[in-house]
Amino acid sequence: MNKFLIEAKKVKKTFSHKNGQIHVFKDVNLSVKPGDLVALVGPSGSGKSSFLHLLSLLDSPTSGQIIFLGKNSKNFSENQKNQIRQKKISIIFQDNNLLSDFTTVENVLMPLIIRGENYKTSLNKAKKVLKEVNLIDRTNHFPNELSGGEQQRVAIARSLIAETDLILADEPTGNLDYKTSQDVFSYFLKLKRLNKTIIYATHNRELANKADYKLSISNGNIKRINGK
Ligand SMILES: Nc1ncnc2c1ncn2[C@@H]1O[C@H](COP(=O)(O)OP(=O)(O)OP(=O)(O)O)[C@@H](O)[C@H]1O
Ligand SMILES: [Mg+2]
Repeated sequence: MNKFLIEAKKVKKTFSHKNGQIHVFKDVNLSVKPGDLVALVGPSGSGKSSFLHLLSLLDSPTSGQIIFLGKNSKNFSENQKNQIRQKKISIIFQDNNLLSDFTTVENVLMPLIIRGENYKTSLNKAKKVLKEVNLIDRTNHFPNELSGGEQQRVAIARSLIAETDLILADEPTGNLDYKTSQDVFSYFLKLKRLNKTIIYATHNRELANKADYKLSISNGNIKRINGK
C-alpha cells in the first residue's frame, strides 16, 4: 500500500496567454495521505482551481510530476486517466457543472451509472444522499429550477455519492448559508472517517481552520500550515 494518495513533485505550471505567460506554480512539492482533510487557501487568482485541476488529472503540469497512488500520472493513457476519475476521484467544480437536461436525482446518481452500477440501487443511494444535503423535496427539479445554493448542493451530493478515495471541492460552500455549510462539512468529516481524502478550496477562514492542515498558495508556491 502506498503511504500517500497523491503527491506533487517540482510542479511547475505556466499558462500561455496572448498577453504573456502566467507562471501560476513555480516549484510545488507536497504529499497528501489517505484520510487527510485539507483546506486549500490563497487569494483569488492564486491558483486554487488550477491546482485542483492538476490533482484531478484533468490538466498536466508544465514540468514536474503529479503522482497518484505511487504512479507518475504522466505515464497514464487518457483511458487510464478516465478510469481513475470514474473510480477514484470526485470533483466539485466552482461552477457546478450540472447536466441541464437531467433532474436533481439523475444528476446525483450519474457517477454510479457511469461506472456500471444497478439503476435501482443507485436511485436509492441518491435519495439517501439528497436527504443528507437537505434536498429531498427537489428530487425531480431541473438545474434551472433550483437556486444557486441548491445547485451547489446537488453538485456536492453528486461528488459524495461515489465515495471515491479522493474528493476535490472548489469552494463547495461558496453559495451556502452558515447552517448548510456546516452540514456539508459534517459530510466531509463522515467521509474522512471512511479514510477518504478531501481537499477543498475555500475563502472561508472558519471552514479552512477546521481542516487537518492547510495548503496555502502564495507567489507560485504552496506551503503546508499545520494545526487546527
Ligand atoms: N487557461 C488559462 N489560460 C491563461 N491563464 C489562466 C488559465 N486558467 C487560469 N489562468 C490564470 O491563472 C491564475 C490562477 O487561476 P485560478 O482559477 O487557479 O485561481 P483561483 O485561486 O482559483 O482564484 P478564485 O479564488 O478567484 O477562484 C489566474 O491569474 C488566471 O487568470
Ligand atoms: Mg477558483
